Amino acid sequence: MLISKELIEEIRSRNDIVDLIGSYVNLKRAGSNFNGLCPYHGEKTPSFTVFPGTQSFYCFGCGAGGDAFTFAMRSENLDYPGAIEFLAKRAGITITAADQEKERGGIGKQKVLEMNLEAAKYFRACLFDKELGQVGMDYFVNKRRLPMTIIKRFGLGFAPNSYDGLSKHLKSKGYSDEELQVAFLGRKMEKNGRTWTNDMFRNRVIFPVINTTGDIIAFGGRVLDDSKPKYLNTSDTPGFKKSKNLFALNYAKNHCAERLILCEGYMDVIALHAAGFENAVATLGTALTQEQARLMAKHTKQVLICYDSDEAGQNATRKAVRMLSEVGLDVKIIRMDGAKDPDEFIKKFGADKFRQVLESSRTGFEFKLESVLSKYDVALVDEKIKAAQEMRDYISDVYSQVERDVYASQTAQKLGVSLEGLKNDIEALRKKKIKSYNAKTEQEIRLGAMGIGDRVNPDGIKNIKAKSAEEAVIGLLLLREEYRGLVTSGKVELSRDDFISDFHGRAFEKIIELERADQYDFSMLGEFFNPDEMGRLQGLEQKRRMLTENGREMFSSCVETVKKEKKISASSGDGVDSINALLEQKRGAKKK
Ligand code: GTP
Ligand code: MN
Repeated sequence: MLISKELIEEIRSRNDIVDLIGSYVNLKRAGSNFNGLCPYHGEKTPSFTVFPGTQSFYCFGCGAGGDAFTFAMRSENLDYPGAIEFLAKRAGITITAADQEKERGGIGKQKVLEMNLEAAKYFRACLFDKELGQVGMDYFVNKRRLPMTIIKRFGLGFAPNSYDGLSKHLKSKGYSDEELQVAFLGRKMEKNGRTWTNDMFRNRVIFPVINTTGDIIAFGGRVLDDSKPKYLNTSDTPGFKKSKNLFALNYAKNHCAERLILCEGYMDVIALHAAGFENAVATLGTALTQEQARLMAKHTKQVLICYDSDEAGQNATRKAVRMLSEVGLDVKIIRMDGAKDPDEFIKKFGADKFRQVLESSRTGFEFKLESVLSKYDVALVDEKIKAAQEMRDYISDVYSQVERDVYASQTAQKLGVSLEGLKNDIEALRKKKIKSYNAKTEQEIRLGAMGIGDRVNPDGIKNIKAKSAEEAVIGLLLLREEYRGLVTSGKVELSRDDFISDFHGRAFEKIIELERADQYDFSMLGEFFNPDEMGRLQGLEQKRRMLTENGREMFSSCVETVKKEKKISASSGDGVDSINALLEQKRGAKKK
C-alpha cells in the first residue's frame, strides 16, 4: 500500500471537495449538491455535479467522476501519488519520505529520480573532464556557441563513447541492472543466452529534462555529427511521462505570467534562454499533447508558437494552434524568414531582430489567411472559391460572433468576395456543425449506454445482462460495508473469476483486498485505477445511491445473476449470446 487509509482520510477531510473543485469550476448550489459546467467535456448546460455529502463528483454527461484525489489527478495532470502529495500540501500536511517510498515492490518513481540525479552528475562531470569530455565541450562551445553560464545553468553533460561507463558507476552506487533498464539509462543486451546491460546514452551530448519541482526526470542525447538517430530521448519511465512535461518549464515558469514561447527543439530553447528569452519551452521530441496544452494554460495566458519553418513545422503549427486555443490560450504564430528554427535565426540575425519578430507575430486567423493566400491563386475563379471555402471552414469554428465578423470582413476584402455572401455561408456552416456535433454527442451517449466503444469496460458488450448485474454488485459493494463484509466473511461466495468483465473482476478484487486489510476507503482505489476507471466506479456507486432497492435481497440476487451468466458464457463461449442481446437492446432503443 502506498499510504495508509488514515492518512488518506485525513488529507481528504482537510480538502473539502466543494472548496477544491470550486477553485477550478464555477459551482452553483442545487439542493444539497452543487452544479457546474463540466471541465472535462464541452457543454452548455451543467451536468457536472459535486456531492458534499460523499465528498465526490460525477458528470452525468461524460461519466467523469471520483473523489478529491481523482479530481486533482485530472486537473493537475498528476499520478495518484502526485495527487496525494498535492492535496497534502494544499492542506498543510507533511508526508514523510517513508510514507512516500512505500511503493509496493516495483521500481518506483523516487528511485528513478535518484538514479537520474546520479546520472546527471556523472554526465556533467564527464563534460567537464578535460580528456573524456573534450569532444562534447568542443561541440557546445565552438559548434553551438553556447556560453559557459548557459551550459552550467541547463546542467548540460556528455555521455562518453563507452559501453558501460554510467552503468558501472550506478552499479557501484548499489543500483541493479533491472533498475538501470527501467530508468532508461541502461539498455538490455542479449547474446547466446547471456544477458547484460549497456549504457543507453553513448557518445552524445546530454540535455537533462527538469520538472517544475526540480527533479531530473529525463534526458535528451544528441549525436555530435550527422549520424542517425539525431536525438535519443528517455521513454516513459515510472518517473516520467513525455506527454505531460515540457523542456525548460522549470526555468520558464518564473518568466511566463504573460506569455510562453513554444519551440520544437532543446537547442532552440537553450539558444532563446541564452539570448534573454527565458520564457521559452519545447515539447520532448513528440507532437504537442492535450496535457501539455493544459500545463501551459496553468502557467500563462498566451503562447507564441515558434516551430521550424519547414513544411513539417508548419503542419505541426496548425495542430498546435487548435489544441492551444481549445484550452483557452491566446495563440500567436511567429514567422522566421531566412532561418529554419529560432536557434538559427538568433545566430544569424541576433536577439533584437528576434524581439521584433515576436512583436509582429500573427494570430491564428492571420496565419490561416496567409497560408490560404499562398496556396491559391485568387485571380482564378475556381481557386478563389476554394480559398473562400477553406476560410469559411476555419472561421465557422471560431466561438465568438464578433471575431467571426471581423475575420469575415478581412477575408472578403483579401479574396475579393462579397462580405454578405461569405457571412451567410459561415453562419450556415456553423449551424450545421453545431447540429451534427449535438447529434454526435447524443449518439456517443447512446452507444456508451449500450457499452459500444466503452474504453473503461470493453468486455461489457459481451453480455448485457451480466454487465448490469455486475455493475449492481460493484455499486453495492462500494456503497455498503455490510456487503463487503458478506464477501470477506465468506457468507456470500463470490470471486474475481465470477465476473465476465475484466474491469469488474479487478474492481471486485481490489475492493475486497482492501476490506480484508481493513483499509477500505473509496479513495484508496485511486492507487489501482486510472481517473477514467475511478469515474466509472464513482458512477456505479452513485447509481445505487439514487436507486431505492439496495437491500440484501437485491445484492444476493445480483450475485446469483453474475455467477449464472458467467457459467453460461463459459460453457457456450461468448459470441452468439452477446450478439442476440445486442440486437435486443438495439430494438429496444429504437422503440423509444
Ligand atoms: P539541432 O539544432 O540539430 O541540434 O536540433 P534541434 O534542437 O533544432 O531539433 P530538431 O528541430 O531537429 O528536432 C526537434 C526535436 O525533436 C529535438 O529537440 C528532439 O527532441 C526531437 N528529435 C529530433 N530528432 C530526433 C530523433 O532522431 N529521434 C527522436 N526520438 N527525437 C528527435
Ligand atoms: Mn536546430
